Amino acid sequence: MRSYIKLSLAVLSALAVVVNGTDNNAIADSLGLHLSLRTEILFLPDPNYENFTQRHSSFANPSYNIAIKPATTQDVSKIVKYANEHNFTYMATGGGHGISRGFSHVQGAIDIDLGKFNKTQLYLDDNLVTVGAANVLADFAETLYKAGKEIPTGNSPCVSAIGATIGAGVGPMQGLRGLMIDSLRSVLMVTPNGDIVTASKTENPDLFWAIRGAGANFGIITEATYEVYDATNNGQHINADFVYGPESAHGVFAVMSHWDSDDVYPKEMSMSVTLGVNSTTRLPFISVSVYYFGPYEAAKPYLQALVDIEPVRWHNASLGWDGMTQAAGFGQTFAKACVRGRYTSHYTAGLNQTDVHTWKTVFRQFASWSGPRPWFQGSIILQRYNAKVTQQVPEADCGAYPWRDIGTLVLMANTYDGPAHDAEVDGFYRTLRESIYKGSGFSSPHVYINFGNGDEGTEAWYGPSLPRLRKLKQKWDPRGRFGPGFPIPPESGVHFCFDT
Ligand SMILES: Cc1cc2nc3c(=O)[nH]c(=O)nc-3n(C[C@H](O)[C@H](O)[C@H](O)COP(=O)(O)OP(=O)(O)OC[C@H]3O[C@@H](n4cnc5c(N)ncnc54)[C@H](O)[C@@H]3O)c2cc1C
Ligand SMILES: *[C@@H]1O[C@H](CO)[C@@H](O)[C@H](O)[C@H]1NC(C)=O
Ligand SMILES: *[C@@H]1O[C@H](CO)[C@@H](O)[C@H](O)[C@H]1NC(C)=O
Ligand SMILES: *[C@@H]1O[C@H](CO)[C@@H](O)[C@H](O)[C@H]1NC(C)=O
Ligand SMILES: *[C@@H]1O[C@H](CO)[C@@H](O)[C@H](O)[C@H]1NC(C)=O
Ligand SMILES: *[C@@H]1O[C@H](CO)[C@@H](O)[C@H](O)[C@H]1NC(C)=O
Ligand SMILES: *[C@@H]1O[C@H](CO)[C@@H](O)[C@H](O)[C@H]1NC(C)=O
Repeated sequence: MRSYIKLSLAVLSALAVVVNGTDNNAIADSLGLHLSLRTEILFLPDPNYENFTQRHSSFANPSYNIAIKPATTQDVSKIVKYANEHNFTYMATGGGHGISRGFSHVQGAIDIDLGKFNKTQLYLDDNLVTVGAANVLADFAETLYKAGKEIPTGNSPCVSAIGATIGAGVGPMQGLRGLMIDSLRSVLMVTPNGDIVTASKTENPDLFWAIRGAGANFGIITEATYEVYDATNNGQHINADFVYGPESAHGVFAVMSHWDSDDVYPKEMSMSVTLGVNSTTRLPFISVSVYYFGPYEAAKPYLQALVDIEPVRWHNASLGWDGMTQAAGFGQTFAKACVRGRYTSHYTAGLNQTDVHTWKTVFRQFASWSGPRPWFQGSIILQRYNAKVTQQVPEADCGAYPWRDIGTLVLMANTYDGPAHDAEVDGFYRTLRESIYKGSGFSSPHVYINFGNGDEGTEAWYGPSLPRLRKLKQKWDPRGRFGPGFPIPPESGVHFCFDT
């Protein structure tokens, strides 16, 4: 069944596919006619779907019968109202980089692809920038760097800015500027019942609180406005990369452990430590990528500490902050970040400390498990950001994200050849994660949902924010239509679409 509809209803009248008890004609008549002309509707499968936003990972994906690319916020509102009335399941697609086993509960749904919301507008006089739901993190760099400004952004150029933000938004400038939610000033959004509202500190403040940490549970944001800052060190930073053999593991973890204290580890620094296995030799290695948002002289002692543990290869350079992610890992690391359609699952843990014994053991177990499994291409990444600034945010401005005390984020990104190896991978990583939790320095799991697997549970995702989030879920989304990846049960627990 092929049907590419830019509201060309002549094409539609020939169709009579029944989706969710409603045929395509009826959908096109009752919904399509009311949407603006630039909106695109596809009934799947359709070859034109390749021009919609594809998912980064094919793990536990949602399945769709209909895909719509709305052109305006009013269109999004109409689609949500229509889908609610007809009991269609739906999910918004921003940058498509989300991964959660919860997405597999979304079946036969409507894909609301936000790909047309792509404006980036800088308001220099007010130090504000507005981006659309389709804008990716790289768009910030392009717009702001030239203007001498900066904003805390993430590591990956292709993740949507809003998608990253509504989980918290972590990244290299976090030590200096806090989380992305800390720069968020307002959003334009469609609520779960289809109303268009603004949420900010002064308008719908409860909703604004909830979307800063649990955003995918509370509606669809079409635009977001952030505060921007004068670029640190005139926008120049030091970019350095190191590769170590397994014999340096103790040295690397000992340095990390020494840097656990936010009084020792500078807020200008971001460090990403990757435990990997060479895809050809299957031998383990450790690589370290550093960004230092300051002059070379200030970075030098920290680089020296990493040189002292004898990398097999290293380099450093001074660059504009807009080029940081492209340069990382000798220019290799992020080549893969924008690829779509590989099979990747995530596991994660937040750390309050780098326990040397725990991490030497994790590295050894990871190497001996993945080495002999050539179908496995995963790695374990530890991201260390100074957490002082994130913890100094006054409580009234914090939002729902509960884990501002995480000093190091662990992301286990597991790329492999498909579902046939799910049980083996999940078995290994669940056990490994237990020992990482144990050595984390926190008494309970601290999970950053945007790096999560989807199996951790509401306490690990939302911690002390959970009671208030459940109240707000009851108020804004009592049917639990939103947030399949990391769902919040409504307070009453009466009905819950994505209960896992
Ligand atoms: C390679 C890679 C690198 C990453 N790097 C970072 C990083 O540096 N920092 C960081 O914080 N995170 C990072 N992440 C995690 C990322 O923030 C999350 O995966 C995030 O959910 C991606 O958002 P998206 O819009 O691209 O994904 P999508 O899959 O499109 O969306 C994920 C979820 O959010 C919902 N959603 C998306 N857009 C909206 C919207 N506008 N309004 C309401 N709901 C919406 C979707 O419905 C879905 O439930 C990375 C992920 C990957 C795969
Ligand atoms: C996708 O869009 C491009 C550019 O508009 C177009 O050339 C191509 O034919 C489209 N793909 C399909 C399958 O229609
Ligand atoms: C949608 O579901 C509700 C609650 O289960 C039901 O009352 C209603 O009749 C359904 N509507 C349609 C159009 O199926
Ligand atoms: C936004 O999308 C429109 C239509 O697809 C395109 O013409 C335009 O170049 C895009 N703008 C940006 C900033 O990507
Ligand atoms: C993997 O090992 C091969 C052979 O020693 C080497 O040529 C290659 O550079 C290594 N790959 C990486 C990413 O280090
Ligand atoms: C590191 O940067 C300094 C200052 O630019 C330079 O002198 C030195 O050669 C660099 N070292 C390496 C290994 O890249
Ligand atoms: C994290 O570690 C620091 C320093 O060891 C300690 O003071 C603090 O209580 C720990 N935080 C938590 C939440 O356990």
